[in-house]
Amino acid sequence: MRTQVAIIGGGPSGLLLSQLLHTRGIDSVVLERKTKGYVLGRIRAGVLEQGFVTLMEEAGCADRLHAEGITHDGTLVSYGDELFRVDFKEHTGTPVVIYGQTEVTRDLYEAREKSGGKIEFNVENVVIHGADTETPYVSYAVDGEARRLDCDFVAGCDGFHGVSRQTIPLDVRREYEKVYPFGWLGILSETPPVNHELIYANSPRGFALCSMRNENLSRYYIQCSLSDKPEDWTDEAFWQELKRRIPADQAAKLVTGPSIEKSIAPLRSFVTEPMRWGRLFLCGDAAHIVPPTGAKGLNTAASDIHYLYRGLREFYESASTDGIDSYSEKALARVWKAERFSWWFSSLMHRYPDQSEFDLKMQVAELEFLRSNKAAQQAMAENYVGLPY
Ligand code: FAD
Ligand code: DHB
Repeated sequence: MRTQVAIIGGGPSGLLLSQLLHTRGIDSVVLERKTKGYVLGRIRAGVLEQGFVTLMEEAGCADRLHAEGITHDGTLVSYGDELFRVDFKEHTGTPVVIYGQTEVTRDLYEAREKSGGKIEFNVENVVIHGADTETPYVSYAVDGEARRLDCDFVAGCDGFHGVSRQTIPLDVRREYEKVYPFGWLGILSETPPVNHELIYANSPRGFALCSMRNENLSRYYIQCSLSDKPEDWTDEAFWQELKRRIPADQAAKLVTGPSIEKSIAPLRSFVTEPMRWGRLFLCGDAAHIVPPTGAKGLNTAASDIHYLYRGLREFYESASTDGIDSYSEKALARVWKAERFSWWFSSLMHRYPDQSEFDLKMQVAELEFLRSNKAAQQAMAENYVGLPY
């Protein structure tokens, strides 16, 4: 089989790129290791930047997002008994949109299927060949049958555990990593959200986040130990712990119910450089990971897709390699800023096992500065709604 762009990974990055390329008549094939049901069953991000929404519009996939997405003009931050609001609208003129990654992925799959897009599921043993030549190809197997996909370019959209990043030789690749000494235990429950906006809570018992998907679907997270397993936490224990970490008036109105999903995610900051090697381009989690505190994971994947899509368009429509030649540099410049924001907000909001009394005082001082200083709130708002592409 031959295509113009071979896309490894059918998560949000790969699907969005495939659909955007399709709008300009550029052919692609998506190779996904899992089933569609598996990909749609993964509960992940929930906050979309305006830049992401614009890309979904460009891809012709934003109707349901516009109809069902919930606009948020600000967020609440709490510490101890203090609670304050950072107003995104006032500081940036831009809101964020609450719409789950599951829904984004569902809309993109639907669009690809409607336009006859080629997606191969259950692929195994994906290997990228000749990425540093003009004639790359991808070999893989489906049901034990070997296949080959010839292409002009390969987009590595296969997440943190994929093969694309490993294809770049070690003497070319440089990796930067910080692993945090805790995880997030998340649950989804068919209950009304405790508050109409998100609450990020720093408490002596650890971080908590109150989020949502819609008016009857809530998403809550608590900082947990890396050795915890989801099955160690009964729903009752989760709700009790959450109530202890959020302001008392919020805890009093929290509606609890059975969880319909419960999972633990470790927290990591990770960047690989460069994001391009020959005709292979890394996008999204394949190239970088942020701790989830700033809701930047999915949104940073989208900014990569923005740069790569424009680069590939320039190549096919104007025979110019300027866009693809500057892809890595442009994408990384924005990635590092998202890394900084996510690291800063994570450091501000969590309890660390080795935190000294001095470190705790610094956290409180910084939270008080953020609560009372418009410039600090402006900086947080600009980062949270998304820096310009
Ligand atoms: P992925 O979504 O990882 O998609 C990669 C795809 O490639 C997968 O479908 C995978 O099956 C496929 N694949 C992997 N290897 C191969 C292979 N060898 N061959 C073919 N296909 C392959 N972000 C937030 O902003 N907020 C959150 O709350 C949040 N929670 C998260 C929780 C977890 C457990 C994880 C892992 C991430 C979370 N993120 C969150 C981050 C966000 O979900 C990711 O940034 C986003 O999914 C990145 O999309 P992607 O398409 O680049 O990668
Ligand atoms: C959600 C996840 C985040 O990491 C975040 O910062 C905000 C919201 C969510 O899943 O809703």
